[in-house]
Amino acid sequence: MLKYNDQLIMALEIGSTKTVCGVGKLSHAGRLSILGYHEESSISWRKGRIGDNELAIRFFRNIVEAVQHSTGGRPYVVHVGMANHELYITRQNFKHVFSETAHRISEEDICFVFQMLKALAARENNRIIHVVPTGFYIDNQLVKEPLDLSGKCFSIEAIVISMNTEALDNLLMLLKLAGIKVKEVILGSLASADAVLNATEKEFGSVYVDIGGQTTAIVVYSHGFLQDVVVLPVGSNYITGDLVFGLGISYTAAEYLKLELGLTPVRNLAEEIEVKSGSELKRVSARLILDIIEARINEILDLIKKNIEIYNCEGLIKTGFVFGGGGAKLAGLVDYAEKHLDMPVRVTGPDAYLDAGTSTEAVSLGVIGLIRFRENQSLLPAKPDTSNILGTGWLEKIKLWAVKK
Ligand SMILES: Nc1ncnc2c1ncn2[C@@H]1O[C@H](COP(=O)(O)OP(=O)(O)OP(=O)(O)O)[C@@H](O)[C@H]1O
Ligand SMILES: [Mg+2]
Repeated sequence: MLKYNDQLIMALEIGSTKTVCGVGKLSHAGRLSILGYHEESSISWRKGRIGDNELAIRFFRNIVEAVQHSTGGRPYVVHVGMANHELYITRQNFKHVFSETAHRISEEDICFVFQMLKALAARENNRIIHVVPTGFYIDNQLVKEPLDLSGKCFSIEAIVISMNTEALDNLLMLLKLAGIKVKEVILGSLASADAVLNATEKEFGSVYVDIGGQTTAIVVYSHGFLQDVVVLPVGSNYITGDLVFGLGISYTAAEYLKLELGLTPVRNLAEEIEVKSGSELKRVSARLILDIIEARINEILDLIKKNIEIYNCEGLIKTGFVFGGGGAKLAGLVDYAEKHLDMPVRVTGPDAYLDAGTSTEAVSLGVIGLIRFRENQSLLPAKPDTSNILGTGWLEKIKLWAVKK
């Protein structure tokens, strides 16, 4: 069997706009070499979902084979990142009261509260794919590592991520028919946030914002715990759509203007810009382009502000924002968002994790996130049962315990 450090990991991120696949390898230092990478527009897969399974199977097979080809053709088990809007996010808590006043919390107790929480969160026609603790409390006091602490009352709060059983079974069936062995399904933006935010940012509070094509995911961390995940049903494709309707141009022309101009004012906003729309050459007002893009970005930033208001009021967001996803590449967005959100904003920089020669420009954050996410989970012990649970501090302890055994 391959040793942990030599393990090649394949990640497939299925977005609403693009689907990406990559194979990577982690070194001792936690750096990542990407050995193969391929991306395709999700259009044919999405069409496949609606009616043509054959098309979807071919789509997945092609994308994975393209990556396998560049890494010697060997098969892999695959970690799948799902588009944000395919998953349901709910909150759940469970409180366990012991008979004695100073009960010492054991691994079995931790497993028990997780199992109870999962049982409470279970819904008909839904399958839980993750349980992410947002806090452990002993006698109402937040603790990072409950193991071996004592108290009368032990409770857990968590975010539960699930997917419609039929949709998940259908996806797994399509992937299986495409020859892909799925190891697990993960909420894509969560894996990206986990990879992108460093320990200080997670501890002192920060927000990862993933601006995709159809959605914008907001992932809030504070005190080392995930605090919230919100998926807004609006993304960068909406800007393109607004330009199509506002300027009466083709989608390709609108996408070109968005990518070329973004939020950076052209030299003279009074001038007109020439753009090829279909077979026509159209002249459109630079001022109007900027106004349209700004209006949609303002809406997205306002929604972000509103959704993190409660954490901001409590002073939980101290380090600011990290933006990722294709929509975050919009020219001028960082400066604009800093002013609007009144906090530091940086665009993702997991280049620090990547081997020299690979950059986040070339490899999607989703793939990096999924592969690194695996690193965090790959040493989980079989006992206690921590399946589907994404870790924070105490899990590290359990991992060490597992390694020592
Ligand atoms: N340089 C750029 N400037 C502005 N927008 C860009 C740039 N590059 C990509 N985009 C936009 O990013 C969006 C796609 O982002 P991404 O690939 O993260 O989407 P996705 O993961 O498929 O979507 P979702 O997460 O909503 O399922 C598209 O709207 C695209 O136009
Ligand atoms: Mg995405």
